[in-house]
Amino acid sequence: MNPSDTQTILPADALVGTVEVPADKSIAHRSALFSAISDGSSRIVGFPSAADPQSTLACIRALGIRVEQVDDALVVHGQGLRGLKAPEAPLDCGNSGTTMRLLSGILAGQSFASTLIGDASLSVRPMGRIMNPLREMGAAIDGEDGHAPLTIQADSGLLTPISYRLPVASAQVKSCVLLAGLYAHGETSVIETKPSRDHTERMLGLSRVEMGDESIISVVGGQAPFARMWSIPSDFSAAAFLLVAASILDGSLIRMPRVGLNPSRTGLLDVLRAMGASIRIENERDVSGEPIGDLIVKSAPLSGIRVEGPIIPNLIDEIPILAVAGVFADGVTEIRGAAELRHKESDRIAAVVSGLRAMGANVEEFDDGMAITGGTGLKGAEIATHHDHRIAMAFAVAGLAATGSTLIHDASIANVSFPGFYDTIEVLR
Ligand code: S3P
Repeated sequence: MNPSDTQTILPADALVGTVEVPADKSIAHRSALFSAISDGSSRIVGFPSAADPQSTLACIRALGIRVEQVDDALVVHGQGLRGLKAPEAPLDCGNSGTTMRLLSGILAGQSFASTLIGDASLSVRPMGRIMNPLREMGAAIDGEDGHAPLTIQADSGLLTPISYRLPVASAQVKSCVLLAGLYAHGETSVIETKPSRDHTERMLGLSRVEMGDESIISVVGGQAPFARMWSIPSDFSAAAFLLVAASILDGSLIRMPRVGLNPSRTGLLDVLRAMGASIRIENERDVSGEPIGDLIVKSAPLSGIRVEGPIIPNLIDEIPILAVAGVFADGVTEIRGAAELRHKESDRIAAVVSGLRAMGANVEEFDDGMAITGGTGLKGAEIATHHDHRIAMAFAVAGLAATGSTLIHDASIANVSFPGFYDTIEVLR
């Protein structure tokens, strides 16, 4: 940790204005990876400068893919399913779980060996969840005790197609298996019971069959994705911090244009509205197969809510900021069934509970979530981010609504998904 990498957050009266939040990280990773293995050149408009998607770009470049900036677009010169080149060094995924897990699916089918590494946070995140299905498909993938560095041996032939029931609701695992399925002979299926984000299915045009509580997503091996144009909407998960900030700071009014509104991502919108938030959507339309719209949020009194069940994967990244909203809601906000939060960039249950307690909130911790009793208000404190961008930003918002000043350590970790986050807040003040 760099001791000078801190950010002081002073209380704000209201946030007012229009801001364009960064482009969607999940869609950006996929657009780069799918373009790299398609036959031909793709244009990606609005590729984000955030560290995570840039890690994916660096990896595909290290795999021999030419990427150039032409006007407002990145042009990725795809080389087809088998046109990647052996990297000269380990592929550095930085802080990005999506890069490591999706890329592993692609590398499992290559005729060269590769190694994937990550930063301190990524190196302790569970990779057994992708190693198991990839091994079932015949890939030789190893990790240190189920963690990165991951080594993938050269595959001498086609992978074996599998039908894989997801043991955890994870779009990253689902996408990893489906991408490996492109390198299998025959049809690979993933069965999910709790719907996770569906960008991979949409972007690759995969078949999805609903059977009762289950969805079965299938891919037929041997077909490269189509080279095409991608336009990346703004990231709902980045907008989430401002949705909550504006909701809890009296007199706020923020407009965010062109935000991705894929229903598998917008659980927080439903929850905040059920808590009483005032959020309007205008200009709803479809771009590159994804619904988008302008979000307009103004402050409103909130009431506590219980959040659990199948909505959890649809707001998993937004739970830290939802917990902050809970402090300013009347009554109790209880979040359960979210044990996956312990395996994100940090143990987000522990990080949120300890940070909110340091600021004077009344929070109970559970293995799978937390309960926040609203109405205590918050006082400024020193916050450890645990090298987690969403913890840094959630507590910056908490600091805006607190009394006194809040000091965020390791503050620049916000650049992982939202470069300029602290400046954005200042512009809206
Ligand atoms: C992501 C999926 C989610 C999410 C992550 C991005 C993706 O992780 O938390 O920030 O782009 O597929 P899991 O699929 O592991 O839950």
